[in-house]
Amino acid sequence: MAILEAQNLTKTFKEGRETVEVLRGISMSLERGEIVVLEGPSGSGKTTLLSILGCILTPTGGRLVVDGKELDARRPESLPGIRKRSVGFVFQQYNLFPALTALENVVFALNIKGFDDKAAIEEAQRVLRAVGLEERQNFLPRDLSGGQKQRVALARALAGQAPILLADEPTANLDSEVGGQVLRIFNDLARQEERALLIVTHDPKVRTIADRILHISDGHLMD
Ligand SMILES: Nc1ncnc2c1ncn2[C@@H]1O[C@H](COP(=O)(O)OP(=O)(O)O)[C@@H](O)[C@H]1O
Ligand SMILES: [Mg+2]
Repeated sequence: MAILEAQNLTKTFKEGRETVEVLRGISMSLERGEIVVLEGPSGSGKTTLLSILGCILTPTGGRLVVDGKELDARRPESLPGIRKRSVGFVFQQYNLFPALTALENVVFALNIKGFDDKAAIEEAQRVLRAVGLEERQNFLPRDLSGGQKQRVALARALAGQAPILLADEPTANLDSEVGGQVLRIFNDLARQEERALLIVTHDPKVRTIADRILHISDGHLMD
């Protein structure tokens, strides 16, 4: 069974009297262990779609089942529960807390998911080791390179075993060597840990690890 299934999702934003139809009927699914790349021009709705699939934003219409739970757009209070249990996010801008060390950034995310401190520290150390940062775990973000910060952000998304990982332009701020390291980590995760990965990107290198490539334009998806 698909770990994520979307049927006919729509999203309309209202700005004053204007309404903008950003998604006009998106249907797609993700399986465990697969890597799907989402491409499309700027402003085509990639971030909006990722936010809906990740239960950060409610759709205007359509049906979404995430990890066996059907999302009810009329009950937005159900979103955080699904998100915490099932989804990890990686953002282009890392979004790390500057006053927290690498370890503390990951532990904090796990505390929100309900891990107590001891379990959170163990899990945080495990994922920081997985991304090759065990020796940097007590560094603050300002003492880490861009690639190291992105690996902390990756570790944070992986922590807690969410089956779905959603990444929004994760290599955009990285040089090609570091970008390659991040792609190797993504690839290992999908294949060895059976996670489902959806990656929004313009980076042609990301295509090399993809099982499928989806294109979004005019609010519709095309293979
Ligand atoms: N909160 C919002 N309110 C109004 N319009 C929005 C909002 N978020 C996104 N949009 C609009 O939706 C469209 C798609 O945005 P986005 O999903 O960020 O595109 P992409 O990530 O592909 O560049 C853009 O026209 C953007 O201006
Ligand atoms: Mg975007």
